Amino acid sequence: MKDFELIKQGAEARIYKGVYLGKPTLVKQRFEKKYRHPHLDNNLTKERIKAESRAIVRCRSAGIETPSLYLIDLKTRSLYLEYFEHSITAKDFIKEASDELIEKVAYDIGAALAKIHGNNIIHGDLTTSNILLVDKTGRNNFKSYSDVKLVLIDFGLAHMDSSPEDKGVDLYVLERAIISIHNNPDRMFALILKAYRSEYPNGHAEVLNKLDEVRTRGRKRLVIG
Ligand SMILES: Nc1ncnc2c1ncn2[C@@H]1O[C@H](COP(=O)(O)OP(=O)(O)OP(=O)(O)O)[C@@H](O)[C@H]1O
Ligand SMILES: [Mg+2]
Repeated sequence: MKDFELIKQGAEARIYKGVYLGKPTLVKQRFEKKYRHPHLDNNLTKERIKAESRAIVRCRSAGIETPSLYLIDLKTRSLYLEYFEHSITAKDFIKEASDELIEKVAYDIGAALAKIHGNNIIHGDLTTSNILLVDKTGRNNFKSYSDVKLVLIDFGLAHMDSSPEDKGVDLYVLERAIISIHNNPDRMFALILKAYRSEYPNGHAEVLNKLDEVRTRGRKRLVIG
């Protein structure tokens, strides 16, 4: 990766940043897993890359903020995406934020989720590291929320599904993520659900029922071990 700088080594992918066609670009290169059969590994990786690019295109055509997709390069197992220089993950933002900012970001998270689910897009890995807050002014000042937009990333496990089940699981995954980082997770998650309800008037009820079911299953699993 000439002129690209490695910024993150994850479990499945290396993340590089650089310039592509004159624009700040993030390259997400999925690497081979030696323990998997090469043929199976290749198929799985390509499926992830296709799932991610398909979901990004669907989101963008539905007006949901995600990075722009610049290039799909199956030969090098890479996706080239718009890189947001002035951004932080929701995870880092939430740790520092005042109650007032939490209220605003919670609303935006709930509304973004309502929008993807309203379009039958399941994210599949909805943690607070996979939600970015971008400073539109480029000042990296996350104190004034009117300059911030929320962007969803990391769609490698995304798929289309119109039933409430997988939407409920998306909410559950997010709830667990918030419980693990926030000191008042109940308030924050309640605010997220409030926004989800108001922005998804025709679908939220079934999904919230599923969320309750998934929570009960999750608790049983914890008890059984
Ligand atoms: N378009 C982007 N602009 C700026 N930063 C980004 C962008 N996409 C990803 N990042 C940063 O890189 C991190 C990893 O990206 P991503 O979640 O897509 O890959 P990943 O392999 O799933 O990593 P992880 O296992 O940490 O979730 C993000 O948590 C975020 O901090
Ligand atoms: Mg991620």
